[in-house]
Amino acid sequence: MYSFASISSFSSLPPSSLAIGRHVLPYPVGEHGIARYTMLHGPRQSRSRHPHHVISLQWRDLLSPHANTSLGRPIRVNINIDQDLKPCVEDERAIKLPKSYAMNGGDGNYSYAQNSSYQRGAVDAAKELIKEGVAAKLDIKQLSSSSSINPFCIADFGCSTGPNTLLAVQVILEAVEQKFKSEKPTAQLPEFQVFFNDHVLNDFNTLFQSLPPERRYRAAGVAGSFYGRVLPKASLHFAFSSSSLCWISELPEEILDSNSPAWNKGRIHYTGARKEVSEAYALQYAKDLEAFLHARAEELVGGGLMALLVPAVPNVMTSSETTIGTEIDLLGSCLMDMAKMGSFSEAKVDSFNLPLYFPPIEELEASIEANTSFSIERMEILNNPPKHVAMPSVRHRTLFFRACFEGLLENHFGSHIMDELFERYSKKVAQSSFTMNPDNDKSIFMLVLLKRKSESSQNDSP
Ligand SMILES: C[S@@+](CC[C@H](N)C(=O)[O-])C[C@H]1O[C@@H](n2cnc3c(N)ncnc32)[C@H](O)[C@@H]1O
Repeated sequence: MYSFASISSFSSLPPSSLAIGRHVLPYPVGEHGIARYTMLHGPRQSRSRHPHHVISLQWRDLLSPHANTSLGRPIRVNINIDQDLKPCVEDERAIKLPKSYAMNGGDGNYSYAQNSSYQRGAVDAAKELIKEGVAAKLDIKQLSSSSSINPFCIADFGCSTGPNTLLAVQVILEAVEQKFKSEKPTAQLPEFQVFFNDHVLNDFNTLFQSLPPERRYRAAGVAGSFYGRVLPKASLHFAFSSSSLCWISELPEEILDSNSPAWNKGRIHYTGARKEVSEAYALQYAKDLEAFLHARAEELVGGGLMALLVPAVPNVMTSSETTIGTEIDLLGSCLMDMAKMGSFSEAKVDSFNLPLYFPPIEELEASIEANTSFSIERMEILNNPPKHVAMPSVRHRTLFFRACFEGLLENHFGSHIMDELFERYSKKVAQSSFTMNPDNDKSIFMLVLLKRKSESSQNDSP
């Protein structure tokens, strides 16, 4: 069923505005030129009884053959919506997540570089599995039949500032070199090109300053969201991502909507919240993972490999039963305490949510299996050091959170509250018998090794 929205006086609108019907919406266009609008069924008073429809229009779509486009004149756009409705544009929620955010830069006390030993544990635990995967599954013949393998291109998606990305790249590079040597002992090794990807605000300077001088690869930074394509089509031979596919691209709109059952009042995450909240997060995660796999499928050549180390939770657990959840809950409760003391309003806390989701294994598997561009070569739980080993003290736990979340928190609450917030957090963690009890830490990493199908085999698959 189609509904229509007309875009009036397109050319006279400022570039970041859009009109639907009579309504000119002066809202910013999203990261990829996507304008998001909440469309409500029916009149305002019946809001709560009707579901919301969030539609995405891309400027590209507005100018597509489906749109009756003629710049400067009103145009009509078909919007595919699953029910007949008279759209009534009520309001637009600004996307609460900044377009770009990053882990703490530099190499100081609060930096990601100094406080990512837990994430490093995942890379360490995956080393042997990656080597085995490359030895068994990297098909040099297949790769060279579909593309040039000189240079051999590797990319790390969500690299941050190091040092973990450098370790991962070294492991991959050595495994690939070994494979070339065993298959073509007399041939010269290809050159290696490594692309380091992260958000534009990532501190790439720190990363590039720490590149080992004796490295056997050329390095380039590729800034931009990995939920879209960041590299040319069919240009990549090995994709990697670690501890990054838990950051969702945006917050589900309904968790910020006081009229929605998914409104996440007084909390900063889905853990311990109503099931509607976690369902909204899960839906966003599934959409994002699909977008990630789609983008990587375009970038990887047929036969190319992708290794993902994905933070997750066991199936039997809800994430509120893991320390991932309870630690975030503790941070949220510190913010609420500060709001109650007048540092800022409670509404300020209501409008802050962390864009993080830890999928239960089954959910992750289902999303990956749904993608037809890759074959699943390996999927298993990593045997990485648990939190109480990687971060034995309350101080470590606090710095781990500060390094990851301070940027987002500062953006919303201001930098002046950070010291107090993390002091409070540190005290709460120390007092929490649950959080510091190793038996309660059920957070896991999944290793997923995928192989890009060649176009022909993809067409053959059912
Ligand atoms: C916890 S860090 C992991 C860094 C590194 N891979 C490691 O193992 O230590 C997650 C990184 O993913 C990045 N990230 C999150 N969402 C992203 C996106 N949509 N596009 C690119 N990078 C993203 C963050 O900025 C952050 O640097």
